Amino acid sequence: MRRERTSLMRDWAGICLVSLLCAVPCYGADDLAIIAGPYLQYPTETTMTVGWETNRPASTEAAQGPGAGVLTWVTGEDNQEFHTVTFEGLEPGGNYFYKVRSRSKKAGEVESELYTFQTAVAADAPFSFIMIGDTQSNPRNVAAQARKAWEQRPHFTVVVGDLVSDGRKKEQWNDHFFANMQPLISRVPLIPCLGNHDEDSRYYYDYFALPDPEYRYTFSYGNTAFFIIDTQRPVDPDSEQYTWLDGALAESTATWKIVCLHKAAYSSDENDFGDTTKERSGFGDHRLRALSALYEKHGVDIVWCGHIHSYERTYPMVQGKPVADGGVLYMITGGGGGGLEKAGPWRSPFTAKVYSGHHYCLVNVHGPALRIEAYTPAGYLFDFVEIRKGD
Ligand SMILES: [Fe+2]
Ligand SMILES: [Fe+2]
Repeated sequence: MRRERTSLMRDWAGICLVSLLCAVPCYGADDLAIIAGPYLQYPTETTMTVGWETNRPASTEAAQGPGAGVLTWVTGEDNQEFHTVTFEGLEPGGNYFYKVRSRSKKAGEVESELYTFQTAVAADAPFSFIMIGDTQSNPRNVAAQARKAWEQRPHFTVVVGDLVSDGRKKEQWNDHFFANMQPLISRVPLIPCLGNHDEDSRYYYDYFALPDPEYRYTFSYGNTAFFIIDTQRPVDPDSEQYTWLDGALAESTATWKIVCLHKAAYSSDENDFGDTTKERSGFGDHRLRALSALYEKHGVDIVWCGHIHSYERTYPMVQGKPVADGGVLYMITGGGGGGLEKAGPWRSPFTAKVYSGHHYCLVNVHGPALRIEAYTPAGYLFDFVEIRKGD
C-alpha cells in the first residue's frame, strides 16, 4: 500500500579556443592524454569501478585509499585505450580517494588528479540519487546541470538514455558527454541506459562495464533495485527482455523497485504520438504498455523514462488509469540538454505535472519513504512528490 503526498577534443590538440566553449582539455599531439574520465560506475557496498579513456594504447593503473598519502595501486590490462579497474574489498558507505594513471613507452605517462568516491550505503541507510535524461547536444547546458547535480552531493546518477545525439560519433562521447558531465561523474558513479540516439553503439559497451549483456541489467543500492532495459530492442510479451524482466522482478526483495527505460508509455507530448495541430494524440508509446502487466504483477513503484525532452509525472496508475492508492508512477525526465519539446493542447487523463524546460531530478530514499524533487539548471524546484509504503 502506498500513499501519495504531493504536491507541489581530443585529437584537436592544443585548440584551446574550443575549451572555452565546452570542457575540452588541451594537450600536445604527441602526449599521452586522458580523453574521457576518469568516471565512476556501478557501485556496490564493497567495490567501485572506475573507467577512463586515453588517446592511444597505454597501461591501466588505478589507486584508492583512505587518504591522499595512503593509496594502493592496482594494475589492469596493458595496451588499452578504454581502461577499467574495479577496486575490491572496500567498506560499505566508505569514503575514499582515488586517481588513475596510464603509461606508454612511446608517448609517456599521464596521471589524473586526486578524486573521491563513496561505496554503496548499507541496505537500511538513506541515500540520494540524480535522475537525468537526454544529455544529447547542448554541451553547455549539460555542463551547467552536471555542476548543479554535483552540488547536491548525490550517491549516484542515472541517465535514462540518449547520452549523446549520435552514438556512432566518437567525438560526441568525448566532447559532449564525458567532458561536460564533470565533476559529477568523476565523483559520483553513473548508471546508464541506452536511448535511440545512442544507436546501440560499440562505444556504449567500450565505455561502460555493466553486467552482461549491458543493454539490460539490474543495479541495487540500499533498499532499492533498478531494472534497466533497452526500448530499441523488443519488449513485447514474447521478447527476451520481457521474460528477463519478469524473472528479475520476481526475484527481487527490494523495498523499492524502479524500472528505467528510454521511451515513454505515457506522455502528453505535442507531436510524438500524433500531430496535435491537426489530430488527436495517442498519449504515449502503446508498444510499451504491455510491460505494465509486469510492473503491476511485481509491485514496481516507478517507471522512469526520457526521450521526450520535457518533464512529466503521472498519477499512480493501474491498468492505464490513475488510482488513489498504490499503482505505478510513470516519470519522464528528458530535459538533460537536448532541444526542448512541449505538451499538446489537451491535458491527458493521467498527468499530475507536466513542464517544458531543461531539468534534472533529485531522489531521496529513506526506508519506506521516497521523495522526488525536480530542478531547473538554475536550481529552482518546480515539482516534488513523496511516496510512502506501509501506512
Ligand atoms: Fe532524446
Ligand atoms: Fe530518444
